This record gives sequence, structure tokens and C-alpha cells, in this order.
Amino acid sequence: MMPLAQVLPPSAAITAEGHLSIGGCDLVALAEEHGTPLVVYDEGALRGMARAYREAFAQHAPDVDVIYASKAYFGQAMLRLACEEGLCVDVASGGELYAALAAGFPPERIYLHGNNKDAREIGEALDAGVGTAIVDNMHEIGLWEREASARGVRQRLLVRVTPGVKPSTHSYISTGQLDSKFGFSIEGGAAREAVDAIRAASSLDLVGLHCHIGSQLFDLSGYGAAAAIVADFAAACGGDDLRLMDMGGGLGIAYTRDDHPAAVEDYADAVMEAVRAEWARVGLPMPRVAVEPGRSIVGRAGVTLYRVGATKTIPGVRTYAAVDGGMSDLLRPMLYGAVYEPLLANRPDDEPTQTLRLVGKHCESGDVLVGEAALPPVAAGDVVCLPATGAYGVSMASNYNGVTRPAVVFVDGGEARVVTRRETYADLIARDV
Ligand code: LLP
Repeated sequence: MMPLAQVLPPSAAITAEGHLSIGGCDLVALAEEHGTPLVVYDEGALRGMARAYREAFAQHAPDVDVIYASKAYFGQAMLRLACEEGLCVDVASGGELYAALAAGFPPERIYLHGNNKDAREIGEALDAGVGTAIVDNMHEIGLWEREASARGVRQRLLVRVTPGVKPSTHSYISTGQLDSKFGFSIEGGAAREAVDAIRAASSLDLVGLHCHIGSQLFDLSGYGAAAAIVADFAAACGGDDLRLMDMGGGLGIAYTRDDHPAAVEDYADAVMEAVRAEWARVGLPMPRVAVEPGRSIVGRAGVTLYRVGATKTIPGVRTYAAVDGGMSDLLRPMLYGAVYEPLLANRPDDEPTQTLRLVGKHCESGDVLVGEAALPPVAAGDVVCLPATGAYGVSMASNYNGVTRPAVVFVDGGEARVVTRRETYADLIARDV
């Protein structure tokens, strides 16, 4: 039986040599050829998730926009793949917008987010013809009005509302509650002021509402609670301009064998039924729906490979094994206390007979990738595979301690292709003038 099958990409297998493989590629061979740390994405799994999302929502309505939240991983290969699979894309800054345009995304399929967009980013979006922007604050509405009228164009906007729903997830990644840096609160009246301000501006075209209650959610009931509040708000606003309801992202994934996330189909049912029921309750026609999944599209498709170097046992305390990456390529354990479960790519079937602490190579005691890793005895040269690192791994990577960021390869049908080369030392100093 495949160990940790539920957190690895579905193509994970054990080779005749006893190595872990993904997409038909031996991970030990990939580590050898491309060096470590190495981020490996199963292209079939990425496409599979994109299709699963489109199909699940198509069961409910023909025109749901599945918007890939590119912050989860915005490599060019991924953006091109998302575009080919018919997804839209959510960008949260001028930089992500640039990346989406460079990957060939038609501007009308781009949704621009950000809680502090500046005039330059707004100008870039208008010049590119970005289809829809999600406004987050009054300051921004003024900028859109000024920049759009200066260009003689009319910009489609959604108003991001915070419904006052607090989902059960880490506080750093819950966003729908009243006390949030994101969006306009419905409760305090700010959301209504935003709707009125946009309606009053001739260069702005209000097309709907947006709400994102949080990320890594297992409990789907939050979507119903949010939809109820947002529907009441839409009804109170009147008008027939609120035709699009963007319900944000947030579907959780399994990081460990104990995590049991909802299936995409159940998520689609929950979101679509919540909107249908609540809009009917308030007497409004069913709006077009959009969703913005990030993590659930790329998370499970990606693994990170590290090479073990130093190990030590402090008698009566614990054993440490250090790898050649750490907080510079995977910040989630340090930032959110996220738990991952490693296995050895070179001998995945060996009995995990001990608990050790898997640490990185950074000058920080907090640079702990896995606090309590169940592994067989490890030695220098072993290749550690950390599953479910495809989301918010490389996209949150840094160069702390001058550690170069990893290469990224896509694997499919036994073929591997480098989609992002490893950073070099020269890259580290290239911007210093
Ligand atoms: N839409 C909006 C407006 C968002 O803010 C986010 C995530 C998403 C969609 C995508 O959510 P997802 O489907 O990936 O849950 N760095 C954190 C996650 C931050 C999420 C930020 N917003 C982590 O590593 O857990």
C-alpha cells in the first residue's frame, strides 16, 4: 500500500527499485538530476483539479467562473495551464497581474484583488483591460474613478464585503470576520456606502459582490452563513446591477493523514445551494456565481524534495535531521504552525520507527519543517519528500540567509520538465546597485 497516499498526488507510486515516483518519474532520480530542494508538480493532478472544479460547478450552472487564485503558486507554467483549462485568474497585485498577462491570460478573464491597490496598479489594470476588479476600500474607489475617467473607460467592479462570519481556521487566514483588514463591513454600513459611491460614478460599473471568508476550510457551513448575510445585503441595496456573486476561495486540503477535507463536488454543492437558497429567500434572481480556489488546485499536486545532511541525537531529548532548505522555501510551518508529514523518497516503505525533528538550514531555531516526523532512521544523503507543498510554498519563498530558491519541475507521463530554474548566487546580488 502506498504510504501517505491521501496527501500525495494520485499518481504517486513505488518503483521497482523501491523509490517514490510521481507522474511516472522517480523522485530520487529527479533530486539527483536537478538538485534539491526541488519542487515537483504532477501536471496531471493540476489539470485534474482544474477540470474537477469546472465540472463540479457546471453541474449547477453553465456560466460559473472558476477563478484560480494565483497567489497559491504563480509560476508561468501554472498560469498557462490554468488558462488552457479554461479557468479565470485572480491576481492580488501588479506583479501577479504582470505574470498573468505574460502567461497569455486574456485580460477579460483576470480578476484584480488587493486591499491597498495603488494608482500605478490601477492604471496598469485599466491599460491592460482587466475584466473585473474587486474593490476593498473607499480610497481605492476614488482612484478607480479618477484613473478610469482619465482614460475614458468604464471599469467593471465587485464590492468586497465582510459578512461577519468567522470560520474555523488559523486567524492569519480567516478574512470574513468584522475585525479584518479586508473589505467593507456590512454590519457597520461601509459596504452600503461603497455600493452607493460606485453607482454614482459614471466611469465605474458595479457588477456584483465578493466575499471570501477564509482559507483551508473543512467545514462548509460557513458558506451558507455568509451567503445568507450577503443576500440580505444585496436585497437591501436593491437595483439589478448585482448580477455576479463571487464567493471567494478557501476549500481545505489534507496536509496529514488525519485531515479530511471536503470533496470539490461537495464544496460546489454547498456554495451553489447556499447562493440559490438565499437569493430565493430574499426574492432576488439567482446571480452568476464565481469562486476563487487557490490551495485546493495546486496544494496536493506539489511535493518538495530535500536532501538530508547533518543529523544529531541529543540523548534523552530528541534526534534532529537537517535538510538543505527550510523556511526560505516553506514558511507555512513557521507562520501558521502548519503540520506536514514527510516520507523518504529513496525508501518510502521503510517502517517509521522513530520520531525526529526535521529542520532546515537557516540561522533560526524556529526553522523547523516538521516538529514530530515519523520516519525510519535517516542518514546523510536520504531524500525527504514533503507532500502537499504545492500551495503557498514557492509563492511565499524568500532568500533568507542567501539560500537560493528551488527549481520547479512539472512531471507527466514519465517526463519531467524544468519550469523554473534554480536561483543562482548571481541572482542573489543581481539587483544590488
Ligand atoms: N480569494 C481571496 C480573496 C483570497 O484572499 C484567497 C486567499 C483566495 C481567494 C484563495 O484561497 P484558497 O482557495 O487558497 O484557500 N498563505 C496562507 C493562505 C493565505 C490565503 C490568502 N487568501 C497559507 O499558506 O495557508
